[in-house]
Amino acid sequence: MTDRELLAAAEKAAGNSYSPYSHFRVGAALLSADGRLFTGCNIENSSYSLTNCAERTALFKAVSEGVTEFKAIAIVGSADGDFSRPCQPCGACLQVLSEFCGDDMMIILSNGWFRLSDFLPMRFSADNIR
Ligand code: THU
Repeated sequence: MTDRELLAAAEKAAGNSYSPYSHFRVGAALLSADGRLFTGCNIENSSYSLTNCAERTALFKAVSEGVTEFKAIAIVGSADGDFSRPCQPCGACLQVLSEFCGDDMMIILSNGWFRLSDFLPMRFSADNIR
């Protein structure tokens, strides 16, 4: 899949965003190593901190289906339907993604692609608890 197709899938997923509190719709499209696509949206809660971000929704869907190896994730977010401004993944999602995806995971935003390590250069990992 091309970057553009992944961004389009993320934008479609943002259409399912449950965000009555922030009104900020986020969508993610996660491409597995074997070419499968898992999408996710942010799911908010009246107890705000229980909100689940779009990236983690997509990742948890994949892992719960037995898929744990990934190539790339596209992320979009917008409060007004204009997804052209980049939406960077939050630190919590980067940490959770890094568990499965590693430093070289490709992160595709509306302004280009990056590596997970560009956002999270010194991540906490299993090595820290050995
Ligand atoms: N959000 C995500 O879905 N992903 C991120 O990486 C950052 C933030 C959501 C959480 C909340 O529903 C809304 O964006 C505003 O913070």
